[in-house]
Amino acid sequence: MINMQTPNLMEAKKRTKIMPKTFSYVLDDKYKDLGQGKKYFIKTYGCQMNEHDSENIKAILEEMSFVETDKMEDADLILLNTCAIRENAHNKVFGMVGRIKHLKESKPNIIAGLCGCMVQEESITDEILDKYKWLDIVFGTHNISDLPKLLSSSITNKSLSLEVYSIEGDIIENIPAKRDSKYKAWVNIMYGCDKFCTYCIVPYTRGKQRSRKPEDIINEVKKLKHDGYKEVTLLGQNVNAYGKDLDINYEMSDLLKDVAETGIERVRFITSHPWDFTDEMIEVIAEYDNVMPYIHLPLQSGSDRILKLMGRRYTKDSYLNLYNKIKKMVPSAAITTDIIVGFPGETEEDFNETLDVVHKCKYDSAFTFIFSPRIGTPAAKMKDDISLKEKEDRLHRLNEIINEYAKEANDKYLNQEVFVLLEKISEKKENMLAGYTDTMKLVNVKAPFSKLGQIVKVKITSVKTWSMDGEIVE
Ligand code: 5AD
Ligand code: SF4
Repeated sequence: MINMQTPNLMEAKKRTKIMPKTFSYVLDDKYKDLGQGKKYFIKTYGCQMNEHDSENIKAILEEMSFVETDKMEDADLILLNTCAIRENAHNKVFGMVGRIKHLKESKPNIIAGLCGCMVQEESITDEILDKYKWLDIVFGTHNISDLPKLLSSSITNKSLSLEVYSIEGDIIENIPAKRDSKYKAWVNIMYGCDKFCTYCIVPYTRGKQRSRKPEDIINEVKKLKHDGYKEVTLLGQNVNAYGKDLDINYEMSDLLKDVAETGIERVRFITSHPWDFTDEMIEVIAEYDNVMPYIHLPLQSGSDRILKLMGRRYTKDSYLNLYNKIKKMVPSAAITTDIIVGFPGETEEDFNETLDVVHKCKYDSAFTFIFSPRIGTPAAKMKDDISLKEKEDRLHRLNEIINEYAKEANDKYLNQEVFVLLEKISEKKENMLAGYTDTMKLVNVKAPFSKLGQIVKVKITSVKTWSMDGEIVE
């Protein structure tokens, strides 16, 4: 094995005061033809951050002359961009790895690789080195810009190239992106997370919080606007903490304002942590028509006792105060959330506190999860004596209520006129286009293909729990 850098959890946990350095990505000429005549296939698991990383990986591969295929069986290079947030991701990925091994038996020249959050875990790279040494490349979330070097080394040496840094990480600007959409774009505003919620693996897999410089973000948005993009989503694990690591007096509300002032038609942002949500942020959302009234505000639990164990640093009351403040200042805002049930030691009483918040907030929708212990996080060591059956029962009860409120929220849209960015052909409805309202409601619209990419006024004609139908009004 020539190239080998394995992750280290203790290292990944460290936070120093050293400012991250910014580097600019350029592809060395010697790699430009490496993929000549070869096809690549990439499968992405997990969050929008991973989706956007895959857009970067695709563009790097295409600069190296690889061509994309959506059939794994046709590919010369197969990459799985993985997620570590919960245990079930592990099984899905290794199931796919088994299929790739099978393919490699008949086509031994296939280059097979794993990247993303899962490989940042020591236990995973140990497993790879033990059972999956036949893989060709493994690279972490800090190593995307090294992909050309790793691929070249793997091809030359015909052995596994594994490079997973656990250092705090730098910022690499100018990595190209092959965006999935021509109309809406992800824009990273920061990397990593310093919150260390006790259940969460992200601060280890994505490293220290590193905010991009405001001018780099704004220039990217201006360029996207110039290229015809209608919508940008500012991405970060905890966008409200943007700028706290920079030595300038500039925070998320300033960035949101400056991005809104580029005049791009729609600005979104995810994900917010209630802890850092300032009044200034709410004011900017209220003030600028092109900042979308849609806020994802993860609750995780409604019990003060559990919130404390989770290290969330807010209480049920302070969360509700923030929620009410947002609703008061931005009455049209749709608010969604994330909730974990079955955190170690969660009692029925704690769970009822969560349900109480759900009844008060009547969320537009929610992502709900059963707690999944992640090796190395404090919560994984906490005593967990709730049975899986009980956890599943809580999840089921929670989802029933979430669904009711989601339908209730959608019902208010019936016969209303809303603006929809038509971004794709509807997956469910024949001859219809689909897109999202300002408030992130999925709408299937009867409209000609020529309207793709446009923001149109739509009258809602029917409503279901997770989508609506509508017609264009001229
Ligand atoms: N177990 C279950 N859910 C988790 N999440 C994060 N870590 C875990 C875990 N260990 C959920 C949180 C977070 C969302 C992205 O995933 O709700 O907001
Ligand atoms: Fe994980 Fe908490 Fe950071 Fe979100 S804020 S990524 S839940 S540690």
